Amino acid sequence: MRGSSPAIPSEIPQFPFKRPTGTEPPAEYAKMRAKCPVAKVQLFDGSQPFLVTKHKDICDVLTDNRLSKQRMRSGFPELSPGGKLAAKNRPTFVDMDPPDHMHQRRMVEPFFTHEYVDSLRPQIQQTVDTQLDNMLKKGCAKPVDLVEKFALPVPTHTIYSILGVPFEDLPYLTEQAAIRSNGSSTAAEASQANQQLLDYIGALVEKRLDIPEKDLISMLVTEYVQPGKLEKADAVQIAFLLLVAGNATMVNMIALGVWTLDQHPDQLAKLKQDPSLVPKFVEELCRYHTASALATRRVAKETIQLHGQTIPAGTGLIAATQSGNRDADVFPNPDKFDMMRPRGRESALGFGYGEHRCVGERLARTELEIVFSTLYRKIPGLRVADGGMGDMGEGKDKAVRFSPAGKDVGIAELRVVW
Ligand code: HEM
Repeated sequence: MRGSSPAIPSEIPQFPFKRPTGTEPPAEYAKMRAKCPVAKVQLFDGSQPFLVTKHKDICDVLTDNRLSKQRMRSGFPELSPGGKLAAKNRPTFVDMDPPDHMHQRRMVEPFFTHEYVDSLRPQIQQTVDTQLDNMLKKGCAKPVDLVEKFALPVPTHTIYSILGVPFEDLPYLTEQAAIRSNGSSTAAEASQANQQLLDYIGALVEKRLDIPEKDLISMLVTEYVQPGKLEKADAVQIAFLLLVAGNATMVNMIALGVWTLDQHPDQLAKLKQDPSLVPKFVEELCRYHTASALATRRVAKETIQLHGQTIPAGTGLIAATQSGNRDADVFPNPDKFDMMRPRGRESALGFGYGEHRCVGERLARTELEIVFSTLYRKIPGLRVADGGMGDMGEGKDKAVRFSPAGKDVGIAELRVVW
């Protein structure tokens, strides 16, 4: 289709699309990849950005410096009224363009290198072991919610310890994080929990200004705030970004991994037999389920051409990474979950692409690898509880509560037994 006149659908579809079942990507993505890979969609406020659904075009969008991540620019695609409001907040590097973006991102990178994350392995392992031992001790006379007892505490404890949150505050903060990201909280409850976390981080920054320790917040205040290279308010926002950026996604990816293995017993059996396959499993998990697919948005600073379409300056673009991860040109038989699939040169897009690619990727992969090499070793009989047929078209659905169909794929509750 490149070069020829692109097909424009007669009606501009409303975005975000809805998933037809718990974990299936919206059906519109496959249709758009085939017929109109760069096409307008309509958002809640009536604006009409372009949705980009092919892997190659998504990579082009996410590496094009003529496109901006600055949310206060007119035309930046916001997906909800809450997003529009958040766009007015003090920006952190996730919402910045070069050179400011890398300037701020580099401040935190030492805490996310291979070397640093490897040094955290014993501690992550201990957190995983402790949570699983607690679950085993309490037993499963009644099915146990794996999200509450395991998927949420593991990444939460890990990022809090990197930031330097004192251990005794973990239960309170874990609870606030759960209210903030849990689909069943009201908007007022979620926003109050958000403020509680922000206030808490503000107080912690003050504390570390007085008595620094060896954590990320202490590094930010001693190396950047005190020498006058960063404002205190920015240090609070950066720490808050790190607290929340990957947390809900990590929780979802752990729960989605357990759900997916339950749905693919042959691959679960292989994994139990040969734990060295865990990195392959994690790679496929992060391709198959794109749990953070709505963050990769940009706005054109100047008029550009993309896949035969003219994108005028001031127009938004949404790079549909969830769609790119199911592009058959790159991943043959893309709707099949197959941890043994041969890997080509092209990268899956679960962690984004280009300069804004997830800074926490190494940490996320390491946590997932430790989780999935421990979970079935300690609890070999772990399975999703029987719940009867639900209305999402898959058996066991009453034991699982998926995220709302128009949001990122995720699991809010997963009842398991063993
Ligand atoms: C499986 C888990 C995770 C997934 C799927 C994920 C996914 C993503 C994606 C898709 C982006 C790119 C957004 C964009 O282009 O705008 C991103 C960026 C980011 N992620 Fe993650 N993430 C995960 C875990 C984490 C963790 C554990 C952290 C902890 C610190 C984290 C922190 C960030 C930050 C700070 C950014 C912004 C990077 C930048 O703009 O330079 N993520 N993540």
